[in-house]
Amino acid sequence: MSADWESLRSECEACRACPLGETRGKLVFGTGVRDAKVLFVGEGPGAREDELGEPFVGRSGQLLDQYFAAIGLDRHTNIYIANMVKCRPPLNRDPSPAEQDACLLWLRAQVKLLRPKVIVCVGRIAAQRLISKSFAVTREHGQFVQRGEFLMMGTFHPAALLRNPSQKSAALEDFFALRDKLAELK
Ligand code: URA
Repeated sequence: MSADWESLRSECEACRACPLGETRGKLVFGTGVRDAKVLFVGEGPGAREDELGEPFVGRSGQLLDQYFAAIGLDRHTNIYIANMVKCRPPLNRDPSPAEQDACLLWLRAQVKLLRPKVIVCVGRIAAQRLISKSFAVTREHGQFVQRGEFLMMGTFHPAALLRNPSQKSAALEDFFALRDKLAELK
């Protein structure tokens, strides 16, 4: 596995370890700055992401960008955003456990290069794979847990917030908690 971002990206581009590589449009490797203290991990690309090759650029992404902005974060200046799977699952279905497993090495390699202090799991799929199998977003969102050298937290997926806007204020509280945690870590 490559030790630099450019080679890692081109190796990932060529990956066919699961069937998603055959049906995707563009690879959605990740975006952001390479010295980010915070890594956000979503589920997998949707239609718009698949077209543009960037994570969270559809309606969900626009909402997520508002939460970033509320605490002084921005995808172009101080964070990195990736997904559990780098290729779009057809019809926006959840990535299967086997697809997530097949893709995990790319995320691990990104984490190794980035060395973030905090990893935020955006939604159930990432939180259940990276924090705990039984993670329940409605019950455990906003709680920081130490996992090795990383602090981890799970929050609502913006697509869930678009479906259920009553949870938006709870999500904002999670971002305020993240802001406070980052200030502590300075
Ligand atoms: N949903 C995700 O989980 N990730 C994206 O990149 C877009 C939508």
